[in-house]
Order: sequence, then structure tokens, then C-alpha cells
Amino acid sequence: MFIVSGPELVIAQCKAGIVGSFPALNARPQSLLDEWMHRITEELAAWDRENPDRPSAPFAVNQIVHKSNDRLEADLETCAKWRVPIVITSLGAREELNTAVHGWGGITLHDVIDDRFAHKAVEKGADGLILVTTGAGGHAGRLNPFAFVQEVRDWFDGPVLLSGAIANGGAVLGAQAAGADLAYIGSPFIATVEANADPAYKQGIVEGRADDIVYTNLFTGVHGNYLKQSIVAAGLDPDNLPESDPSKMNFGSGGGAKAWRDIWGSGQGIGAVRAVETVADRVDRLAAEYAAARARLLG
Ligand SMILES: Cc1cc2nc3c(=O)[nH]c(=O)nc-3n(C[C@H](O)[C@H](O)[C@H](O)COP(=O)(O)O)c2cc1C
Repeated sequence: MFIVSGPELVIAQCKAGIVGSFPALNARPQSLLDEWMHRITEELAAWDRENPDRPSAPFAVNQIVHKSNDRLEADLETCAKWRVPIVITSLGAREELNTAVHGWGGITLHDVIDDRFAHKAVEKGADGLILVTTGAGGHAGRLNPFAFVQEVRDWFDGPVLLSGAIANGGAVLGAQAAGADLAYIGSPFIATVEANADPAYKQGIVEGRADDIVYTNLFTGVHGNYLKQSIVAAGLDPDNLPESDPSKMNFGSGGGAKAWRDIWGSGQGIGAVRAVETVADRVDRLAAEYAAARARLLG
């Protein structure tokens, strides 16, 4: 997640056994990315040596593949140096990027919001798909998750991750039952001790419910979901927001940071988030809820 996900969050997630990810653009300046990867790689290797019975999960780096991202080449070189196991690509599918990641033994997962983009991503060599559906935090899609998974599973046997308002273990099981392999969870991890977010933002996630989420393209030119309370705090009327100018879209080295710092991205699933807690506790809770949901359904 832009701004929110840094090494602390990613390391805690991987140690807890789930894939932790962060956008390369969060490391500013670009040279910091190398330091972050060094730290993540070393800390996870140390954890694995000390906990052979509970090894860490691999980590992922998100690349924003958009013409305004002037760091893409440099960030990819850093990913190659550290042989990043999973690269998540957003906003553009590029064949040469997939080939480069495969060259060092990594895999690519591409963010998509409809079946047409899903086909394009696979044609360009993405290994797996992240279906970003309605109600997801950040740049959400518009499709219902059932509708989208059904369409993709009609023709794609590879790894499918489902994203959008998944916030408890039962919803993770639901994603799998619908045809996804993995659940892709964002907003609940904002309300963790390790997230790089203002305490008021974390509290906003704890207190917020689906009804508090506003879907607008005003802040980045692409439609996304945001906490109403931060829009009000910025002096805007969430019920009467103007349309944005898409030509102002900017995902480069400095672009858009202010919007995300002051206007808080969040998905609709946050009604299930009741406290700020450590990543380890959140993951334990998800696992317990998942087991309970399975037991209830399968006996
Ligand atoms: C504050 C915030 C920032 C995000 N930034 C990014 C990003 O930089 N790149 C990206 O691919 N997805 C980004 N996302 C989307 C997440 O990767 C994920 O798809 C989404 O959070 C899932 O929905 P959920 O929040 O309802 O769990 C962001 C989400 C949030 C809430």
C-alpha cells in the first residue's frame, strides 16, 4: 500500500507466514530501495535460521507500470539485484518486465479490474492475476467479486488472488470457495502497529464501516476508495465531489503523495477491524476465524 507499507510491515507479515508486499515507490529516494531489500532479505534469513519449523513467507514488490513512473527501470534493476521472489504489477502489463522477472527466477502477479485486462495480462506473460473488485482499498475496480472470479476461472487455471473488502478468516475461505487460490488483503493491515500510518488514520480504520467509504477519481485521476472522515477533514463535501482531470494522473517520484497522506485510502471491509494490533495477532486472528469457518461448513 502506497506510503503505508514499509520494511517493518513487510517483515512482520512474512514472519507471520503471509506474503508481505510494498510498492517500490514507497522507498524514497530511489537509493533507499536497495537498503530496504537488504534489510528485508537479512531479517527474514535470520528468522528462517532461528525458526526452521515456522519459515517466513516470500515477500513481494509492487511496480506501478505507468508512464509517469520515472523510476521503473531503476527500481527493476534493484529488484533484479535482490532477486525479488514476487513482483506485483499495477496499471500496465509489459512483456519485457515479465521476462526480466522470470530471468531471475521470480514470478509476476498482475492487478486487473476486468476480464479484458486479465486476458491482456496473461497474453503478456503474467504468471498470476490479482482480481481487484468493488470495495477494495486504493484504486478499486467496479466488478462484483463472484462475477469476476467466475469469468476468469472460465479460461485461466493459474494463480488467482482475490482483492476487495476481505477482512476476516471467513471471507478468506469465501474467496477460495469462489475459485480464488489466495486472498489479497490491504486495509486491515493499516490498523496494525507496524504500518506506516498516522495514529488517527489507524483509528479511522478501526472506527470506520462500509458506509464511511467514498469512491471517487478526484484525488489521483483513477477511481479509488477513501475514508469519508479524511475527505471532510480536508474541507471537501464527500457527497458533492467534482470529477477529476485524468491528465493530472501522476505516479512518479513525488506525484500523488500528498493526496494519499491527507486523504486516507481504505476498502469497505473495515467493519471487521476492531482494534489496532500487531501483524502477528491479526494473522493469528485470521487463521483462527478461517479454521472456525471451515469447521462450521465442513464439519
Ligand atoms: C492506502 C492504500 C494504498 C494502496 N496503494 C497501492 C499501491 O500503491 N499499489 C497497488 O498495487 N495497490 C495499492 N493498494 C491496493 C491494495 O494493494 C489492495 O488491492 C487493496 O487494499 C485490497 O482491498 P482491501 O483494502 O479492501 O483489503 C492500496 C490500498 C490502500 C488501502
